[in-house]
Amino acid sequence: MNDNISEISRSVKQISFFIYKYFSNLFKKNFNRNNSLKTIFKSKKELKKYLHEPEVIGLVDDLREKRKIFRKQVDSGTSIWDSYRWGAISYKDCRGMYSLVRKLKPEILVETGVCNGISTAFILLAMNKNKKGKLVSIDYPQIAGTNYENGAFWEGKGGAMIPEGHQPGWVIPQHLRDRWTLIVGKSQDKLPPLLSELKEIDFFLHDSDHSYECMMFEYETVFGALKNKGILVSDDIVWNNSFDDFCKKTKRKEYYVGPNVGFLFK
Ligand SMILES: C[S@@+](CC[C@H](N)C(=O)[O-])C[C@H]1O[C@@H](n2cnc3c(N)ncnc32)[C@H](O)[C@@H]1O
Repeated sequence: MNDNISEISRSVKQISFFIYKYFSNLFKKNFNRNNSLKTIFKSKKELKKYLHEPEVIGLVDDLREKRKIFRKQVDSGTSIWDSYRWGAISYKDCRGMYSLVRKLKPEILVETGVCNGISTAFILLAMNKNKKGKLVSIDYPQIAGTNYENGAFWEGKGGAMIPEGHQPGWVIPQHLRDRWTLIVGKSQDKLPPLLSELKEIDFFLHDSDHSYECMMFEYETVFGALKNKGILVSDDIVWNNSFDDFCKKTKRKEYYVGPNVGFLFK
């Protein structure tokens, strides 16, 4: 009984925190003109051109079809808290990230948190259009129907899963895969050796374990390897204060793709 009460009170606190952060970021993004995605582009027209590239529209249609396969193959759980989820960054935010990659044309990119592979597919499409870049993604996937020991994943993890019999990133179209390497494992173990090997990177996206500790760990680990003017993007910045704290600590300006996706430049 006491456990249930403390669980409910934790959820209520977390949801109130999300709502507060979401609206405060929405406010910062919309009313502080220097913080939005638009400021990175020469003009609204340039940003619009990337957001609406025909290939992006084609990719969204393709991913919608793959989502139907996901739904057919994966059972739903019993409540919104434990149902199996697609777990993707929204198409709107993915298009924003796509535009950033098109504009900045990074050469070496690293991403944590692949799951079914939606953000990865958008990044790879932008790289394909740029004819430039190499992306390494790290993912520790949860596979639908598999039993995991307690503590296998971080405490607040939702239901983001891949269907049985698939690899992380299974939705990524075949023709986009030649610039991509997947590393399966936890970012806590795999990110430091990867960065030692790559030495310098131009672009990083966090979308794995959204505990404060792991987000801060990834930002701090990556920042050292990020080139000057390199870009660090983070999904789920409304889960906790890690992104705000990191920007303050490194004295970097926070930008927003959307209220839940932030970025900064080194
Ligand atoms: C929200 S999903 C990623 C969604 C993906 N970016 C997209 O747009 O489709 C998070 C993924 O990170 C994985 N994950 C959880 N903890 C992790 C960790 N410590 N290291 C690496 N991946 C982790 C989850 O199992 C899941 O596959």
